[in-house]
Amino acid sequence: MIEVQLLAVQAIGETFAGANLNEILRHIWQANTRLTLQQRGAIQDIAYGTLRHYGQIDAILHQLLNKPVQLKPLHYLLAIALYQLCFSKTPVYAIVDHAVSSSRKITRNPGAAGLINAVLRNFMRQRTSLLDQIKTNEVARYSYPQWWIDKLHQQYPRNYEAILLAGNEHPTMMLRINTLYTSVGHYQALLAAQGIDSEWLWGNALRLARPVAVEKLPGFSEGLATVQDAGAQLAAPLLDAGAGMRVLDACAAPGGKSTHLAELVKDIELTVLDKHEARLVRLTENFSRLKITDYQLLCGDAMHPSQWWDGQLYDRILADVPCSASGVVSRHPDIKWLRKPSDTDNFAQTQTTILNALWPLLQQGGKLLYATCSVFNEENNLVAEKFLSTHQDASRLPCFHATTDNGQLLPGARHDGFFYALFRKN
Ligand SMILES: C[S@@+](CC[C@H](N)C(=O)[O-])C[C@H]1O[C@@H](n2cnc3c(N)ncnc32)[C@H](O)[C@@H]1O
Repeated sequence: MIEVQLLAVQAIGETFAGANLNEILRHIWQANTRLTLQQRGAIQDIAYGTLRHYGQIDAILHQLLNKPVQLKPLHYLLAIALYQLCFSKTPVYAIVDHAVSSSRKITRNPGAAGLINAVLRNFMRQRTSLLDQIKTNEVARYSYPQWWIDKLHQQYPRNYEAILLAGNEHPTMMLRINTLYTSVGHYQALLAAQGIDSEWLWGNALRLARPVAVEKLPGFSEGLATVQDAGAQLAAPLLDAGAGMRVLDACAAPGGKSTHLAELVKDIELTVLDKHEARLVRLTENFSRLKITDYQLLCGDAMHPSQWWDGQLYDRILADVPCSASGVVSRHPDIKWLRKPSDTDNFAQTQTTILNALWPLLQQGGKLLYATCSVFNEENNLVAEKFLSTHQDASRLPCFHATTDNGQLLPGARHDGFFYALFRKN
């Protein structure tokens, strides 16, 4: 467990230094090939869990310490040990003993081990009163930065609390069934035969009762199913593409929504574009697993079509723009601590620039679907309204779906927080 704790400390430290947790873990796996699957699972659980509950954990530490711990890795060691004490079934003595041993690997300072031991044992003794003391602290209660809580409170006065709490739930695993090769009902039977319960949500979306490694999914490598949130699965049907149409997915990698489009509509002329070459590698892997070969791949900047556009108009454009990802924090709890208050306005500027640049590429009568995985209004309805007010030839069509309120899906058990705005060129 010492190695598990130390690698979890490394993951938390690198996250707070500004890196993406998925990437960090990928590097940790590469650098530590002898880790067992169980150890990897434990490191992942501790790192994700600590970040999910970091507001609460940090507030408890604040109460327990007379002054902040200067050495950051020691602070993070206390944080992960507190996470384990509060949320795991590991025996208390094992957590504390291993944290003390881990501290000796972090520093030779003889006081460190004593501090770790004292703080964790004090927590166990005073747990109830400590939790009581931080009850009125919103950052501790919800485990989000205060600015994030305030923004949601202001934008969703009635359901901000539900949104915050939904982001702290363990995410459910959702699949998109590839109806080119199978049917939803048949695939559910294949899952049931493997002992995996599933529930049909809508379209080709299934929710699994528990997460499963993709290699265990029936026919995964043959392209029968794709892991994709049910909210993300609304994009392709909303775009309403038909056979023979020229379709551009302008921010396409890793290809979740464009592969769905290719599965749903035969004979579209599909162009997939992304600015980041490395992400396009994952896109091509996904297309090839699903045996989709008929598409044009472009690496380029959606803000500058003159660099990559062939001059022929598109009938449909999907702009699944870069965003704060505030609607998918249950899957990526690091986002809560990586974002800054100024990020939403910066994203909104980029999003508006991309929309403005793509609009001239759309055929008259054509449709453009604007999408984010954010719940912040600055990136969603405000961008859509500004776009409408500056484009006389654009009208906004309703996004018909039972789960959306004016295109905004709030995160919950059936889907993540997405936003869709569909525009038609008049
Ligand atoms: C939300 S992700 C897209 C997810 C993808 N549509 C899917 O469903 O799998 C946004 C993507 O936009 C790309 N991106 C960011 N800025 C861009 C730009 N200026 N032009 C084109 N792509 C960009 C990112 O590399 C990222 O892959």
